[in-house]
Amino acid sequence: MAAPILQVKDLKTQFFTDDGVVKAVNGVSFDLYPGETLGIVGESGCGKSVTALSILRLVQEPGRIVNGQILFKGDDLLELSNEEMRELRGKDIAMIFQDPLSSLNPVLKVGFQVEEAMFAHDRVNKKNALSRAIELLKQVRIPAASSRVKDYPHQFSGGMRQRVMIAMGLANKPSILIADEPTTALDVTVQAQILELLRDLNRDTRTAIIMITHNMGVVAGLCQRVIVMYAGQIVEEGPVHQIFHNPQHPYTWSLLRSIPRLDSDRHDRLLSIEGLPPDLISPPRGCKFNPRCQFRIDRCLREDPPLLDVGPDQRAACWVTMDRALKHKEPAVGG
Ligand SMILES: Nc1ncnc2c1ncn2[C@@H]1O[C@H](COP(=O)(O)OP(=O)(O)O)[C@@H](O)[C@H]1O
Ligand SMILES: [Mg+2]
Repeated sequence: MAAPILQVKDLKTQFFTDDGVVKAVNGVSFDLYPGETLGIVGESGCGKSVTALSILRLVQEPGRIVNGQILFKGDDLLELSNEEMRELRGKDIAMIFQDPLSSLNPVLKVGFQVEEAMFAHDRVNKKNALSRAIELLKQVRIPAASSRVKDYPHQFSGGMRQRVMIAMGLANKPSILIADEPTTALDVTVQAQILELLRDLNRDTRTAIIMITHNMGVVAGLCQRVIVMYAGQIVEEGPVHQIFHNPQHPYTWSLLRSIPRLDSDRHDRLLSIEGLPPDLISPPRGCKFNPRCQFRIDRCLREDPPLLDVGPDQRAACWVTMDRALKHKEPAVGG
């Protein structure tokens, strides 16, 4: 396998608030390979967005990255100057957000904004810029792209605006696209279309995608590998087909059980997991999931489980699973 394009190592990002220190990301490590589609899944407040913002060094005050390395093609982004980091954003690593309206300027034509996204790093002449902008809008399958470049954001539907954001994200052919809940605000049909688009773009351009979502269904629709986050930590990771068929962490099981059904409006309410993720200023001792876990044993209340191998390329942080996994391995070790 090729070398990872991105390596996040023991990332810790904290917010220094009046109420205390919020440990939003607490020792996250993972690799992303060129052209890969990686999902980061977990309920709201688990540290997914802060992980993404940390990678791009966009964490705002009172937040700070307090530990770790973020290696992009081997270089630590945390050691770049602000200028170098600005150069890299959009060009090498692009990011799109849940709400395209807040990222688009309402008084500027869409085509102009796509051109601006290109100009930020690339000095093409104006005529080329327009045709390239149209080409990009065609690439994200916006119908009648050559006339729609003259429209304003409010003239586009939510799904079409998200396509514009994807076009802007891809304007400089980045090697990584980070998409933070890009389909959450869209209805299910449009959501499926955007996922299909991202799948096709990943296949055609080989841009690696980090898809951040609270919905395991979105992971199934796009990703090859998935990281499950809970309370600022990774609790399970592995190939998507394996995680779906053989999840090892009780939190992963809960997420899989709560996949929103396509035929219901009330999905999130009906099938949500009992209880809430912990407050990250003073999380519970031991495993952070223990107050909500129906399988917990005494050890879970005392010690935080490490992330360990539980299968081929699959790791989980759970004492109950670990116990079983170790027993399972014993004969092999002995023989
Ligand atoms: N600006 C901030 N100030 C204080 N706490 C924050 C700030 N931004 C995020 N957090 C906290 O960091 C944790 C992780 O948040 P986030 O990464 O946005 O979660 P997710 O994207 O998984 O929903 C949450 O507990 C959240 O309250
Ligand atoms: Mg978020």
